[in-house]
Amino acid sequence: MSAKDGGVEEERQQEQEQEEQVVNPWEVSAKQGGKIDYDKLIDQFGCQRLDKSIVDRVHRLTSRPPHIFLRRGVFFAHRDLNEILDAYERGEKFYLYTGRGASSEALHVGHLVPFMFTKYLQDAFKVPLVIQLTDDEKCMWKNLSVEESKRLARENAKDIIACGFDISKTFIFSDFNYVGGTFYENMVRINKCVTYNKAVGIFGFTGEDHIGKISFPAVQAAPSFPSSFPHLFSGKHNLRCLIPCAIDQDPYFRMTRDVAPRIGFHKPALIESSFFPALQGETGKMSASDPNSAIYVTDSSKDIKNKINKYAFSGGQDSIENQRKYGANLEEYGAGRMLTGEVKMRLIELLTELVERHRRARAAVTDEMVDAFMAVRPLPNMFA
Ligand code: TRP
Repeated sequence: MSAKDGGVEEERQQEQEQEEQVVNPWEVSAKQGGKIDYDKLIDQFGCQRLDKSIVDRVHRLTSRPPHIFLRRGVFFAHRDLNEILDAYERGEKFYLYTGRGASSEALHVGHLVPFMFTKYLQDAFKVPLVIQLTDDEKCMWKNLSVEESKRLARENAKDIIACGFDISKTFIFSDFNYVGGTFYENMVRINKCVTYNKAVGIFGFTGEDHIGKISFPAVQAAPSFPSSFPHLFSGKHNLRCLIPCAIDQDPYFRMTRDVAPRIGFHKPALIESSFFPALQGETGKMSASDPNSAIYVTDSSKDIKNKINKYAFSGGQDSIENQRKYGANLEEYGAGRMLTGEVKMRLIELLTELVERHRRARAAVTDEMVDAFMAVRPLPNMFA
């Protein structure tokens, strides 16, 4: 568990991977040969399982069918979601906060999961949304220049906007452009509450990490507090925040929740997803840097077909000999009514449709629209 991207450290991490799964904002890998153990993560992180009773409650409160990612358990864990729903039931609204660190131009379908889900939450609860583009984070971790990080953030903003967010309820900001004012005041309040030892405990920083990394968690924490957005939430110090994210982001918000009451805010609530599995199977997540593990939103229908037929894990063995020897792993489509080829064909169809739809939506996003979403402005009807 380290935040460093150096050689020796990498080796140490690889050794560690053999025995233990590693899940943190910088690395996701299962135990050697195994799958990500999500129950263990819930225990380890101390979050709550998102059970059917909460899904039913969301259904009742929003009077619409819960999103398929809820029904199918893609979002499987939470913190204090019941508190948010209690407040909502009393007529108190909340705001949504999510984000993205753009380290490449190429988004894969896994990157769309939190945004598709956040769009549903925004529509179902009729609440405002802030989206943080952590161009500073990627500049520090991925060794990109400031300029390149900013360019990538803007490119990724187009993919985010293509997910259909309501401009009258959505503020998108990049850290390089927006951090300052009361946002920065909150960062300083947060930083004063976190010792270096605490940060090492949560994030695994080492003495070799540059100090930019150590100062970053406060940047991701600050949007959890309404006063970081005076143009939106002025005078609404008590507004609650709900954060949809993948569970690898949990360490940031553990820290945030620890600090919140000490500086006079509600703890942000979280709703957390599992990872989009790599094509090769559930031992890892889709990775933007491994083209064969992922379906990119820019892949052609031919690319999609080839990748799925060639790489997708379906339970079948990798050769005829092994298939004969070991048989197929049927866990993935246990009922056995479908054959590998049929399952793959259906998957190709579904993903092609999704990617096509995204491509069309993204092509329609202009630079003016990006500017409009990112303008620091009031959102007069954001709770309507
Ligand atoms: N750190 C996240 C990433 O690398 C980006 C992020 C910032 C984020 N704030 C967030 C993600 C809030 C989820 C929720 O992608």
